[in-house]
Parts: sequence; C-alpha cells; structure tokens
Amino acid sequence: MCGIVGYIGQQQAAPIIINGLKRLEYRGYDSAGVCIVRSPELDIAKKAGRVVDLEANVDISLLTGTTGVGHTRWATHGIPNDVNAHPHTDASGRIALVHNGIIENYLTIKKKLVAAGYGFRSETDSEVLAVFIGMLYDTLGDLESAVRTALSEVEGTFGLVVVSTVEPDMIIAARRGSPLILGIGNDEFLVASDASAVIAHTRQVVYLHENEMAILTRTGFTTKTIANVETHSVIDEITFELDQLEKGGFPHFMLKEIYEQPMTFRDGYRGRLLIDEGNVRLGGLTSVVDKLRSAKRIIFTACGTSWHAGLVGEYLIEHLARIPVEVEYASEFRYRNPIITPDDVVIAISQSGETADTLAAIREARLRGATVLGMVNVVGSTIARETDAGVYLHAGPEIGVASTKAFTSQLCVLTQFALYLGRMRQLGLEEGKNIARALDAIPDQIHAILEKADVIEAIAKEYAGVSNILYLGRGVNFPAALEGALKLKEISYIHAEGYPAAEMKHGPIALIDENMPVVFIATKDESYDKILSNIQEVRARNGKVIAIASEGDDHISALASHVLTIPTTHPLLTPVLASIPLQLLAYYIAVERGCNVDMPRNLAKSVTVE
Ligand code: G6P
Repeated sequence: MCGIVGYIGQQQAAPIIINGLKRLEYRGYDSAGVCIVRSPELDIAKKAGRVVDLEANVDISLLTGTTGVGHTRWATHGIPNDVNAHPHTDASGRIALVHNGIIENYLTIKKKLVAAGYGFRSETDSEVLAVFIGMLYDTLGDLESAVRTALSEVEGTFGLVVVSTVEPDMIIAARRGSPLILGIGNDEFLVASDASAVIAHTRQVVYLHENEMAILTRTGFTTKTIANVETHSVIDEITFELDQLEKGGFPHFMLKEIYEQPMTFRDGYRGRLLIDEGNVRLGGLTSVVDKLRSAKRIIFTACGTSWHAGLVGEYLIEHLARIPVEVEYASEFRYRNPIITPDDVVIAISQSGETADTLAAIREARLRGATVLGMVNVVGSTIARETDAGVYLHAGPEIGVASTKAFTSQLCVLTQFALYLGRMRQLGLEEGKNIARALDAIPDQIHAILEKADVIEAIAKEYAGVSNILYLGRGVNFPAALEGALKLKEISYIHAEGYPAAEMKHGPIALIDENMPVVFIATKDESYDKILSNIQEVRARNGKVIAIASEGDDHISALASHVLTIPTTHPLLTPVLASIPLQLLAYYIAVERGCNVDMPRNLAKSVTVE
C-alpha cells in the first residue's frame, strides 16, 4: 500500500524524504508528493506517476527545511492524479498530512464539514481527515489534541503523519491498521511505513503499536495511545543490510530475488535442520509445543502467493503428520462464521506480516479460542507481533511486487513444520531423514536450474505474444501450477489459470487449440502416467505443451514442444524446484512484453486495506 516517510532533524528534509520514498515505492507507485515545513508556510510538491516523475517536475533543492513528510500512493479513493496525490492540507493550508489506509466514515465527516462551509479539492478520504483536523485545531488550539480528537471519531485504518506551521518543530504520527515505524537517530528522527526507508540513517527503530501515536521533535519522541495514555516504547534493531535493498547488478529486483533463492532457502533451515535426527528445531514454537502435540486440526489463512504456499502445506502436513488441514483465503475466512475450537491451530502465512485480511483473520481466530501462529518474513511486523508464536522465513527484504523468494522460503518453513509435527506423531526416523536430506539438497538444485535460465528465456520469447496460458499439475504440484499462473498474470498481464491436471477435461479443455499453450508440471511421481495422458489430450487438440519434467526423462520430450528439466527431489519438495522455471518463464515473458516487472500495474506489495 502507500509508502510514508517523515523527517525531523538537523539536515535538509527533502532529499532524505525523496530517497526514502524511492525505497518505499514497491508499496505503491501511482503518485508521489512531499511537504516541507518552511515556517510560516508549507511547501508542497506532488505529481501523478513515480517518484522520478516528481523529481523531474519539481526542483527538490528549492524545498528547504528540516521537517517534512512524503508519500507514494496506491489509490483507493479517487484516480491517481496530481490533486489526489498526498500530502493533503487543511482548509487554512497550515496543516498537512499523508495517510495510508481507508477512512471508512469519511463521507459522514465530509458532510458535516461541508455543512460547516468547508470545501474540498480532491476525491480522497485523506483530505477529509486533513480538513477535519484543521477545523478541530481552530477550536482546540492544540495540534496534538486536534489529531487525537479527529482520530477518535474516525472509523477505518490509518498510518498517518502530520506536519504543520502551527507546530513547525513537531511531527505527529499515528497508526491503526497500517504499519509505521520510528527511526531513532542522533538529534534526528524519521517515521516510515517500513524499515527500508530509514536504514540509510539509523538501524534503531520503534514499531508503533495499534492505536498508538508518536510525537517527534528534533530532540526526542514520546509515544502514547490515541486515548492519551503514555506508552513505553522498545527500541529494536533492523536485522537486514542496506545492500539487500539494492538491485546488485540485476536489471530488476524480481530477477535478483529469483537468483537469491539458493541462499534464502538455506537461510530458512540453517540452524533448524537436524539431519541425523530426521527432525528440526523450531525455537519460535517452543512455547506452543503442547498445543501442537494435541492439535486436532491446522488451518492456514493467507492471501495471494502465501495462500498457495498454504495449499502446499496442506499436502505436506496431511502426508507427514496425518493432521487434517484446511487452507482459507483470509478475506473469506472471517466473514463466513468459521467453526474454530481450542484444539485448532490457525497459522497465518504472510511475507509482509501486514496484509489486512490475514491480520483480521487471525484476530477472529484468536477471539474464538484457537492457538494462532505466524509464518512471516518481515521481522517485527504486525502479524509477527500478534501471534502466539511462529517461525520467521529469513528470506530478507523482498522488493519485487511479485513474490518469489518468499514463496520458496514459505515452502522451506512449511516442510520443516510438517516434519516437526510428523516426528511428534507417527513419522519414522528414516523418512524424517529423507525429508531433511532432500531439504538440504534444494539450494544446490535451485542453483542448477538457474544455470539453465537462457533456455527458459528463449522459450519466453516464443510465447510472449500469447493471450492465455493454462498451468496444470497434480497433487502437491497443483498449488505450484496455481502459483506459476499467478506469477505470469501479475507481471505480464497475460491471462493465466492454474488447474489440477485431471480437472482439465471438466471445462478448460474447451479452450485448447493451437493458440493455447499449456504448462504441465510433469515430474516423475505417482501421477506421472496420468499427466502424460493429459498431455496427449492437449496435443490431440493442437495445444502447445511446455513441460516441467524430471532430469533424465527422455520420454516426455517426444510429447512436449518444450521441456524444462528439474533435478529429482523428494516428491513433496517438487513444488520448490518446479517454481523456479515458472518464475523465470513469467519474468522473461514480462520483460519481452516490455512490462514493468518490479512494479506491475494496479498491484501493491503489502496490502494493508481490506
Ligand atoms: C499482495 C501481493 C502478493 C502477495 C499478497 C499476500 O497481493 O501483491 O504478492 O502474495 O499480497 O501478501 P503477504 O505479504 O501477506 O504474503
């Protein structure tokens, strides 16, 4: 969602804010703006488009001042244009704010403001909040009180930062539902949507809690609840390095992240895997071991790519631990009055740890008495903090909007979790060792697949012009097919669908002709022969087949137009290896089509609105 950066200190604020916004652009990128406090005025520049478009249109060096805020937007209310871009000001132009989230009752507040004679320039809910704060300031004469009073009337979500000429040496930040962190420097402070925008200045951060406000000055900060109760903040350390936020010589973050997977996958099991014991040590779960031992059911809840990981988790856990598993779209879960008992373990899977639907789902599960766990990548994120226990992915910052390395790290953690549950139950030592050894072989196997990227690039060139692609797989490879299709549609805008291969004959087969390529995950496992029959059915209708096959499978090359081979692994780990060529295929097709791979249209990396 939107990215927010605020600065107060001794240095010029504008360049710091602009650089911070560039780091946050993966959150939203349809317009950008800054506001610098140059008492008695606010200097505001905003522009539809990316941060570079703002820079091209505004001489940032003319925006002088040591306090300011910036914003990069993912539109909710009103189209992405200059007027709807943030910051927004109150009627007097003395107070400016940037906002991430949705003010649900903005129309009610707007009606009151219109009746009181206020006018509006933009279509946004955020401007309504700015004008509302301004009106309250006129009555209360105190900015902090005005912000607090406004926020206590607001329904919805916000990550909010306010600057003003009435309090030029103060920034007010507040959060409900949208993350905000404070960066603690020496006589300078930042506030941002995530750590990537502050790491160039400080590694010391404070994660604001739900319904918390922060008042930042040049010399210090205080935190309190929106209800005005002082809170105690803990200073944390950022755990990643600045160079992890750079492209490191790759043309796109997505490609860099695809290539990082041998390392990120290993980081997901380093220090956890006990090969000789055929088991794992998951330190983050020690407090809930008894709950896990007695769990009658596991429910995964997630969105997007993370939901696909949950589907793979279902196969893993049911096979290795024989515990029933359900996988729920987080957005559906909470609204369908789910049946949850205290014997259920509900697990949120999330790269960002901030996805609003997933967060709402685990809150619902907790309310109904379940043990709630997290499998999250971003350390200190809201889901990580709101779960009883969990396992971090350790994939490092993922910047490309289409998730790649976080997905394979999710599979890494899920495999270990299934192994852990299995070994607590009926899974024998030898099978445990097989899984552990297979997991430990994956990084080198991913590396071997990446070495053949040029073959995939050549195939991508051939298929870049198509309008539809079907992805088929069976068993544990069905979710891998879904994820392959999602990758392609996210970044290339080609329509793609994933199906269980056997379902093809119940509908999708009607679509197949010479213009419909079909990607099959056809590795040598128990459903191999059945998949070959499905391939024959496609060929009989002149469809083109791209097969992801096991190394050494000579038979399949006679049937498929193209074969991409992957090394042999334990059948339950095939989705990890199958994902790599599918990620590369989507990437190279999108590049060939001239798409902005890292910032696909309409998408955002971290979806903090419902
Ligand atoms: C957005 C992203 C997807 C991601 C999904 C869930 O839609 O564009 O790539 O899979 O959110 O995000 P999470 O951070 O919870 O894994």
